[in-house]
Amino acid sequence: MSEELFFPVIETERLTLRPLVVDDSESLMGIFSDPEVMRYWNTAPWAKIQDSLDFINESKESRKRQESLVLGVYLKSTGELVGKCLLFSYDKESKRAEIGFGIGRSFWGKGYIGEAGEALIQYGFGSLRLRRIEAEIDPENQSSAKVLEKLGFSQEGLLRQRWEVNGIVSDSALYGRLVSDCSPKQTS
Ligand SMILES: CC(C)(COP(=O)(O)OP(=O)(O)OC[C@H]1O[C@@H](n2cnc3c(N)ncnc32)[C@H](O)[C@@H]1OP(=O)(O)O)[C@@H](O)C(=O)NCCC(=O)NCCS
Repeated sequence: MSEELFFPVIETERLTLRPLVVDDSESLMGIFSDPEVMRYWNTAPWAKIQDSLDFINESKESRKRQESLVLGVYLKSTGELVGKCLLFSYDKESKRAEIGFGIGRSFWGKGYIGEAGEALIQYGFGSLRLRRIEAEIDPENQSSAKVLEKLGFSQEGLLRQRWEVNGIVSDSALYGRLVSDCSPKQTS
């Protein structure tokens, strides 16, 4: 598969999705060191700028290996970094990948992930030829569940007590969307 497919620039009405660069490290750190943003994550909030630099570097390497597609989400109006969205656990033979997203607290509730997520999903189904995209969330993460439902995902399962992070045990809800599923209504 051509390498450019893992280095795309995707435009939506309000947003640009493109690979993160080292210059994003401080903005990215600001977002993912926030305990509220990381509340339902399976890792602790980032503690140092190196965490951000490591993430950007690893994103680049995993795109080169064609294992995952991690993109920064930027506001077209100001160029500001809103957060990130990604397709990971890419299985070329089975034509499937997992989707993930996270944005800064001041950007919640503006429909940005509805917009960025649908563009990424269409890229996955179209350019990467995926048949299935899946998501795993903490069932208590209602914002995430709502945005997945708006994006046309269906809940397919519940795995009990799947995670333990800092001594807190949580379940996982599994969601899926197939290329053959109907497209959701416009979300933003
Ligand atoms: C989950 C998340 C990606 C949703 O993105 P978003 O662009 O805010 O999505 P939407 O604008 O469509 O809002 C989705 C829901 O979030 C909730 N929400 C919106 N603004 C909120 C706010 N200020 N505070 C708390 N919840 C809020 C609402 O329930 C909303 O649903 P509604 O519009 O039907 O009321 C975003 O909230 C986020 O990054 N959260 C932290 C990271 C995270 O949990 N990521 C998912 C891990 S799998």
